[in-house]
Amino acid sequence: MKYLKMNNGFEIPSLGTGTNTFGKANKDFFGEINYDTKELLSAIDLGYRLIDTAIYYRNEAVIGKAVKESKINRKEFFITTKIPEKEEFSSTDTLVSQYIEQSLQNIDLEYIDLYLMHFPLETNEENIRVYRILESIVDQGLIKSIGVSNFNIEQLQYLIDHVRIKPVLNQFQSYPGKHQQHLIDFCNSNDIIPEAYHSIAKLSEEHKNILTEIGKKYNKTWSQVVLNYQVHQGMVVIPKSHNPKHQQENIDIFDFKLNEEDQHIIKHL
Ligand SMILES: NC(=O)c1ccc[n+]([C@@H]2O[C@H](COP(=O)([O-])OP(=O)(O)OC[C@H]3O[C@@H](n4cnc5c(N)ncnc54)[C@H](OP(=O)(O)O)[C@@H]3O)[C@@H](O)[C@H]2O)c1
Repeated sequence: MKYLKMNNGFEIPSLGTGTNTFGKANKDFFGEINYDTKELLSAIDLGYRLIDTAIYYRNEAVIGKAVKESKINRKEFFITTKIPEKEEFSSTDTLVSQYIEQSLQNIDLEYIDLYLMHFPLETNEENIRVYRILESIVDQGLIKSIGVSNFNIEQLQYLIDHVRIKPVLNQFQSYPGKHQQHLIDFCNSNDIIPEAYHSIAKLSEEHKNILTEIGKKYNKTWSQVVLNYQVHQGMVVIPKSHNPKHQQENIDIFDFKLNEEDQHIIKHL
């Protein structure tokens, strides 16, 4: 596993697992929580240590359960969760604090490695208000790092200019066909780690075919080519799979380097 150093000195694995349908009936985002930990235990077995969850996913307790069942030292894991932007969660400081407290209890792993604002709120001032609550929980030692998700450049810049603890990371949609290169470049030049979601799910068939051809040179699949490309760009990736074969494929991306020409092709898809 490769690790990146964040702007606060802590390290984050370059690759982790998404979980938004884990521990749920029928692998359905809106399915009933069934506390089934088999997908996550299989990922942990294969070497995944970064686990991405959120209050919205309703499965934080399943994540905590799987980590405990793994019997691996909690310190080896990097757990990310997120506070939703919707009014019912964030319209008052009390609500935000209560939901974060509840989320810490649900995960039940002593502390959270990274807490994100899941989406920006209506205004920059509202973003600052919620972010300051995250800062206060860092001060209490219950969260190690804080950051954001789905923030654009303008929202990120405002945050950087007005907060005490700089966000360590921005998680956003990024995949060949929609890299969001300006946002990646802005993050990299401001020492904020760009983290990609939907690396795999959103690819067009046409792009998959091009990436499959590239992959043949390296004896890798299209998904391995995408994830390797993103990690090489300084991004953290969080592919999610219910299939152990895919989980294995997605973590086996650290033993090759795409040549300049192939990187150029992927960048311009
Ligand atoms: N911050 C946000 O707003 C936000 C939004 C969306 C998602 N996320 C996070 O990002 C994570 C990843 O996003 P995602 O789950 O939507 O999409 P994803 O990881 O890009 O793709 C998941 C889909 O790709 C398939 N897949 C995985 N590996 C594969 C492989 N090697 N070959 C072929 N197909 C493969 C999976 O099916 P199988 O199960 O059959 O393998 C699944 O259908 C989420 O789980 C969540 O933690 C965050």
